[in-house]
Amino acid sequence: MSHFDTPYGATPLDPSEIEGLKIKNVTTRGQLDQLEAAGVSAGLLWLKRRKHLDTLSDDFLRELHRRLFAKVWAWAGTYRTTEKNIGIDPSHIAVQVRELVDNARFWIDHSTYGRIEFAARFHHQLVKIHPFPNGNGRLARIATNGILSNAMGMPPVVWARGKAHAIEDNAQRRAYINALRSADGRDIRPLIHYLESNEP
Ligand SMILES: Nc1ncnc2c1ncn2[C@@H]1O[C@H](COP(=O)(O)OP(=O)(O)OP(=O)(O)O)[C@@H](O)[C@H]1O
Ligand SMILES: [Mg+2]
Repeated sequence: MSHFDTPYGATPLDPSEIEGLKIKNVTTRGQLDQLEAAGVSAGLLWLKRRKHLDTLSDDFLRELHRRLFAKVWAWAGTYRTTEKNIGIDPSHIAVQVRELVDNARFWIDHSTYGRIEFAARFHHQLVKIHPFPNGNGRLARIATNGILSNAMGMPPVVWARGKAHAIEDNAQRRAYINALRSADGRDIRPLIHYLESNEP
C-alpha cells in the first residue's frame, strides 16, 4: 500500500509514516477508517472514565492521541518530525502546544471567552499547529470537548451532526474546513457560527 485517497482538508501521510501502520494488510481508506474508528471508541471510553484528568497539559494531548490511535499507528502519541501542507515547522511543535494549553488555562481562569468561542479558538489553534502526522482533527475535536467537560464543567460542542467525532466528506465537512481556513486568516467568526448552528 503506498497511499490513501485523502478527504477534503486532510493531511496526506509520508511513506515513513505509513511504515508505522501496525496492521499491514490494509489497502483502502475505508478499511483504515474502520480500524481507526475502533481505536477512537476505545480512547473515548478511556477519556469518559477519567473525571479528574488534567486536560490542560501537553501530556494529556499526547496521551489522548496515543489512546485514540495506538492500535493502528506506531507513532501514536509522538509529535511529527516531517513537514505537512498544514501545520507549523515540526521543531516548534512542543513549545507551541505548551503555549496553547497555558493560554487555554488563562482563558478559563479569566473567563475570556464563552463556551463556543473557547472551543472554536482552542480547536483551531491545535489543528493549526498540527502536532501529529495524522489524527489531528479527531484529537482536537475530542480534546476540546474533554476540556469543556473536565476543566470547565460545560457541555460538549457538536462538531458534526451524525457521527460524533469523524466528519465525513460532505457539505458539512466543507463548511467546517472552510471555517478553519477563515480562522487561519484571523477571522474566527465563521467557526463560531458553524458551531452555533450545530447546537442541539
Ligand atoms: N486550513 C486549515 N487550518 C487549520 N486546520 C485545518 C485546516 N485544514 C484542515 N484542518 C484540520 O486538519 C484536520 C485534518 O488533519 P488530520 O488528517 O491530521 O486529522 P484527522 O483526524 O485524520 O482528520 P479527519 O478525521 O477530519 O479526516 C481536519 O479535520 C481539520 O481539523
Ligand atoms: Mg487524517
